Amino acid sequence: MARILITSAIPYINGIKHLGNLVGSQLPADLFARFNRAMGHEVMFICATDEHGTPAELAAAKAGKPVEDYCAEMHQVQAEIARGFRLSFDHFGRSSSQRNHRLTQHFAGKLAENGLIAEVSEKQVFSIDDNRFLPDRYITGTCPNCGYTAARGDQCENCTKQLDPTDLINPRSSISGSTNLEVRETKHLYLRQRSLRDKLEAWIDSKTDWPILTTSIAKKWLNDGDGLQDRGITRDLYWGIPVKKGDQPWPGMEGKVFYVWFDAPIEYIAATAEWADANGKPDAAWERWWRTDKGAGDVTYYQFMGKDNVPFHTLSFPATILGSGEPWKLVDYLKSFNYLNYDGGQFSTSQGRGVFMDQALSILPADYWRWWLLSHAPESADSEFTWENFQASVNKDLADVLGNLVSRVTKFAVSKFGPEVPAGGAFGPLETTLIADLGARIADYTRFMAQMEVRKSAGELRAIWVIGNEYLQAAAPWSVVKTDPDQAQAIVRLSLNLIRVYAILSAPFIPDASAAMMRAIGSDDWTWPDDISAAMRALPVGHGFTVPENLFRKITDEERADWQTRFSGIRG
Ligand code: MF3
Ligand code: ZN
Repeated sequence: MARILITSAIPYINGIKHLGNLVGSQLPADLFARFNRAMGHEVMFICATDEHGTPAELAAAKAGKPVEDYCAEMHQVQAEIARGFRLSFDHFGRSSSQRNHRLTQHFAGKLAENGLIAEVSEKQVFSIDDNRFLPDRYITGTCPNCGYTAARGDQCENCTKQLDPTDLINPRSSISGSTNLEVRETKHLYLRQRSLRDKLEAWIDSKTDWPILTTSIAKKWLNDGDGLQDRGITRDLYWGIPVKKGDQPWPGMEGKVFYVWFDAPIEYIAATAEWADANGKPDAAWERWWRTDKGAGDVTYYQFMGKDNVPFHTLSFPATILGSGEPWKLVDYLKSFNYLNYDGGQFSTSQGRGVFMDQALSILPADYWRWWLLSHAPESADSEFTWENFQASVNKDLADVLGNLVSRVTKFAVSKFGPEVPAGGAFGPLETTLIADLGARIADYTRFMAQMEVRKSAGELRAIWVIGNEYLQAAAPWSVVKTDPDQAQAIVRLSLNLIRVYAILSAPFIPDASAAMMRAIGSDDWTWPDDISAAMRALPVGHGFTVPENLFRKITDEERADWQTRFSGIRG
């Protein structure tokens, strides 16, 4: 039994996320967590809300609420939606927790002790009309790297370059739109990442099994001589973690807070401590996941995120960890995703374009979305959501192939032989061939899942459903029963066992439908079918089962057209 630590990039607190956000981190992380639990491994799956910084302040101001209240409410909203999508976090924490305050201040103190923090007097953009400094997202302008005109002060969305607000060309205030800006002096802390360059490079070079998308982004910023600029880790904001050196005050830094990108990844650790607190466990319980001197030596740590997050996770956060000089766990495998586009354009939170997580659940159950999103995950390239494609996938894969098999088999079995696994006949050549094919495919599926090859896994699972259907078509128990009822019983017996095996294999993708299948089959044995021959004979003769409610319904052309119009822009 292995110990598997999984973190998903923590979503910003400001508003409900769209399906593109979901498929880029939380959902594939959940798939992997569920798979590893099914394999019998010990899993710790962590996520949280990313609550600090300008996005939170701006959103709270827009909602007319104190930022603390806004964050508390939005955390509940996001937690509820996560449950709706069946995201199986062991803990969904908050980056504004006291645990994260203490840990972030601890890391800053250690970095300072190790000579890795510089105090810099710097010039910052001050908005005369807004009467305040304009850090990060409070300022918009043209990216000096790619020319994108709506780049934010912290990062260009278009080319992923990390920016400082003063880098922007033609800057304007995001609060008032004012261009009445001037540059003023203020003191800030810088993390001297540059001096950790060689260590970081050696570490990244040692990760020979990382996906190309991950290493190419990491290498790009490492070798530009540019991505590894020393980074400002403090801001002139009200909302955030107060700047302290461990538990001591930091002279000259009064009234300032840490930069959101400094404290957010530390929340992965803090959220695990929050998990221990919430479950009445001692510090040792979370430290054995994170401290290699306290039991985390045998933990394998996987991170999931969108490609825009990669520089922060391959350079900035590891710089914090390595620079602390303490034995914290570094990521072992970093799985990153491209973007999901929406119907010929981009998902847009600001324009309300695309489907948001709450809206998705209001029109169809989680499994439908989980299946489409995961089977079309933007792994090797960006991918696109279209309603036509969504309708086709749901109707074909879920309703016609999987759902239909389950209902045909159980209905036929009950009507001919009653609601128990029938005893007659023996497996013949068709059954033997199916079992052999299943064995080979399950081995591939298991390997792809372990390698986090999301689309390949989905493809293999679909193929596993398809060969079951083909078998049933060829075996044709509805005809055989007329001439050889014993043989028809053997076909039914195998098919009922097949439904249980499908429930197990499908559960990481479509947990609710899988639970319904397992319930119908009257079993609760989720043992992974490594031994397929045994698994296809697992249900004893006479074992009771029921016909489940229709597992999936089809999406009509009318619904598709209606949704297409409804989600084309401006969230209602
Ligand atoms: N909130 C960020 C985003 O959605 C992700 C933060 S991930 C962490 O892009 F590492 F900082 F935690
Ligand atoms: Zn750019």
